[in-house]
Amino acid sequence: MFHPLRVSAIERITDDAVAVTFAVPAELRETFRHTPGQHLNVRYSVDGAEIRRSYSICAPAVEQPADPVLRVGIRGVEGGAFSTYALKELAVGDQVEAMPPMGRFVLRPRPGLFAAVVGGSGITPVLSIAATLLAREPKARFCLIRSDRTAASTMFLDEVADLKDRYPDRFQLVTALSREEQSAGLPSGRLDTERLTALLPAMLSVPDVDGWFLCGPFGLVRGAEQALRALGVDRSRVHQEIFHVDDAPADAPAAARVTAPSDSTLTATLHGRSGSWPVQEAESLLETVLRSRSDAPYACKGGVCGTCRAFLVSGEVRMDRNFALEPEETDAGFVLACQSHPLTPEVELDFDR
Ligand code: FES
Repeated sequence: MFHPLRVSAIERITDDAVAVTFAVPAELRETFRHTPGQHLNVRYSVDGAEIRRSYSICAPAVEQPADPVLRVGIRGVEGGAFSTYALKELAVGDQVEAMPPMGRFVLRPRPGLFAAVVGGSGITPVLSIAATLLAREPKARFCLIRSDRTAASTMFLDEVADLKDRYPDRFQLVTALSREEQSAGLPSGRLDTERLTALLPAMLSVPDVDGWFLCGPFGLVRGAEQALRALGVDRSRVHQEIFHVDDAPADAPAAARVTAPSDSTLTATLHGRSGSWPVQEAESLLETVLRSRSDAPYACKGGVCGTCRAFLVSGEVRMDRNFALEPEETDAGFVLACQSHPLTPEVELDFDR
């Protein structure tokens, strides 16, 4: 469900990125209280067309009774309708519509050692995670390994430097720039699997890390995941969120794509109401639902944000790709409706679970 929110501040944080803060009305204070790492789905209409995007919340989570701070990071994406709009036209006082914070790439503060490997705008949710953790849990430590193109393109430089100043014993920062040499930090170059496999044990005690947070472009996240696997890190300790998937392969093998029955029926429950509809050729199950129910939840339609998560009550589906659900969720029967296509004549989804 979307709620209208007003823009209360816009700060330019790099040449191509802004931080946007939304004012939260008193009656929505609890609705918009976030867990560190979550994102906000926003809806806006440009030239009559509705666009939806999800943006991670960079502000630390505050506890009751303090007012939640809804500040998100938005980096310009070439051809990206909302980010272009946000960078060039969005103004203080404008109204956008937003869903309550969501997402499972989260860390609730607890004692322990945590680490993150982030690239580009992948710093956004991790900034919230690290700042909240260090402020609330004196027995927690955090190691941030970040990769950016150049210092000028690095988002939230001041906020990260502030964490270093405030928690010199509990916050460790390692920066790699892919296109620029720096006086301190790592030599320039991309952080790939090989480099990370050598680097991580030199920087921290890998077996002692209680949780890993990987966030950024597909190549970096996959590279870090493979490095952690090579270093013997258990999958259950690794959380990931992918921001750009253009270079990512689809999950479903080509052979599976031709086996979908041509006349499947989808039954779906959404906000307590059920309906059944025929699935048209090649459309995703989300598109089937959206033809009759405009309240079906979605943001990216690319298998990344997880907003369209639904429980598969019966039947079988194949997903084109999945960068949002953890293995435990797919094992438990959850699917991404925007990536799902029926493999059986009858499929039933429940969006309310
Ligand atoms: S809408 Fe984002 S994963 Fe389906």
